[in-house]
Amino acid sequence: MIVIFIVLLTIGGFGCGTFFYFDSMEKNKLLEEEVSLLNRTLIHTKELLFRLQTNNVDLTDMLEGERNTNQDLSKNLQVEQEKNTMFQSQIQNISGVVGTLQKLSQTDEELLKKYSKVYFLSENYIPSKLSRIDGQYLLNSSAELYFHGDVLPFLSVMISEAKSSNVDLKIVSAYRSFDDQISVKTGYKTLYGSGANQFSADQGYSEHQLGTTIDFTNPTLKKLVTDFENKPEYKWLTENAYRYGFVLSYPKGNSYYQYEPWHWRFVGISLAKKLRDEKKNFYDLTQREIDAYLISVFDR
Ligand code: DAL
Ligand code: ZN
Repeated sequence: MIVIFIVLLTIGGFGCGTFFYFDSMEKNKLLEEEVSLLNRTLIHTKELLFRLQTNNVDLTDMLEGERNTNQDLSKNLQVEQEKNTMFQSQIQNISGVVGTLQKLSQTDEELLKKYSKVYFLSENYIPSKLSRIDGQYLLNSSAELYFHGDVLPFLSVMISEAKSSNVDLKIVSAYRSFDDQISVKTGYKTLYGSGANQFSADQGYSEHQLGTTIDFTNPTLKKLVTDFENKPEYKWLTENAYRYGFVLSYPKGNSYYQYEPWHWRFVGISLAKKLRDEKKNFYDLTQREIDAYLISVFDR
């Protein structure tokens, strides 16, 4: 019995061992296949990763390339914008120059010439606009006196503002034509001979022919005399006339004529201010210096 039991046990144990052996062999095989599959998957994943990395490098390169292109385009845009700005300012400059030339071409270049024995105004020269001066500004209110139409507003405002300071400027003489000057000078010559050259210009050399020059007196003096320099009207003019563009042509010690405190010429506000600031007289400047102010002669 025991032997039989042992044999059966041995057979059973052998059977079981064989079963387990084959079973484990089978499991081993499955595991090996699984490992092999995993290995293949790993290789595949590595390949995939490698490809992705390569793609990533390519994409980064592309992005960098795009960035560079973008930077180049931005620079080009900036250069073009700068060129545009430059062109715009050039165009503005050109239109400014054209405007200046146009203004200059429309301004009578005789207006700021030095006459007084220096330049000659032809007998045909008449100011482009002549306007009659209102009688209220004249010593003789019924006289027919004319002045340059573009300068008359400066004169009227000056006299009116002087009046509001109790300064009573009265006009004795304004525009004188070439022929008027012949008459005036002939009259003086008859009376004073060559002495007339000290205070009266020959025809063609008088600032009065420009229509921008005035001889003032006041209601007490009633004429053109050197004593005008002691009157409040003269004091007011020396302090204020420049603000309206008027200057004294023949101050004391000038090299053209005797001192004429009554004779005031319009040269424009900017030139009159310059002369005042620099304590100079109109005839102290060169004609070239004066000409630079022609463009602004009627500016306020
Ligand atoms: N009295 C000045 C000089 C003229 O006759 O114009
Ligand atoms: Zn005068």
